[in-house]
Amino acid sequence: MKNINYGDRVILIDHKSRRHMVKLKETGRFSSQYGFIDHNDIIEAGDGGTAKTNKNFRYRIFSTTYTDYVMNLKRKAQIIYPKDTAQMLMEADIYPGLHVLESGIGQGALSMALLRALSNQGKLITYEIREDFAEQSKKFIDDFCNDFTEIHEIKLGNIYEGFEGTYDRILLDVPEPWHVIEHTENGLVNGGLIVVYIPTILQVKKYVDTLKSVGCFADLSTFEIIKRPWKVDGLSVRPEMWMYNHSAFIVRARKTSIN
Ligand SMILES: C[S@@+](CC[C@H](N)C(=O)[O-])C[C@H]1O[C@@H](n2cnc3c(N)ncnc32)[C@H](O)[C@@H]1O
Repeated sequence: MKNINYGDRVILIDHKSRRHMVKLKETGRFSSQYGFIDHNDIIEAGDGGTAKTNKNFRYRIFSTTYTDYVMNLKRKAQIIYPKDTAQMLMEADIYPGLHVLESGIGQGALSMALLRALSNQGKLITYEIREDFAEQSKKFIDDFCNDFTEIHEIKLGNIYEGFEGTYDRILLDVPEPWHVIEHTENGLVNGGLIVVYIPTILQVKKYVDTLKSVGCFADLSTFEIIKRPWKVDGLSVRPEMWMYNHSAFIVRARKTSIN
């Protein structure tokens, strides 16, 4: 089935399960120690197909998933890893039609996940303080999820100083999220959710103390996601020697009226 085209990115997986992300170009050629494959042959084989190098090594061909794309980004800022992004979407209860505020943009990894979940219905406003990050992440977002960007607006600014509008959801990945809480009085609807990604426990303490001090947040939850991969190979069935351990804490809270 020919369902990939020039301009698309694909993942090529070799016989040792090594993965390569490749952008397909006319007259392009993928090369490795196992030989080369013309991009045209990759397109002929299609998503889920296989192609052989001139040295007769087989590569499996897959269209690029969200995880493939963000984990292969050449990073200038730390991204939120997919294991955490997935949980943040659930904790924030993201669905099409919501008005969502995000800050900061970094490499746009969380923005891309939000845009796909919103599916061009509602609004995503992303505040970012650094112009270079705003510009670079916009390129990544347009490159990977161009079909979902019509509801996205990136605003240059310091989220600690406040923001325009009122939102159903707020998602933050900035160093001092406690500065944003004062702006949620008018900026987050009652019943709205705020979900924050925080690397260290001292930042968590300051953030949660601030949430509690303003008296209009309830249903607080603080946790981290630890992903433990297993090896399942014949009689060797055991946890892998490595695991995805601490990345950051996630804190979820819900806005409520003050009595
Ligand atoms: C760790 S990165 C965010 C990564 C992003 N969540 C992702 O998944 O790609 C933090 C971002 O917050 C931005 N930032 C830091 N302080 C900010 C502020 N006060 N207002 C707006 N953006 C800010 C930084 O410039 C950077 O782009």
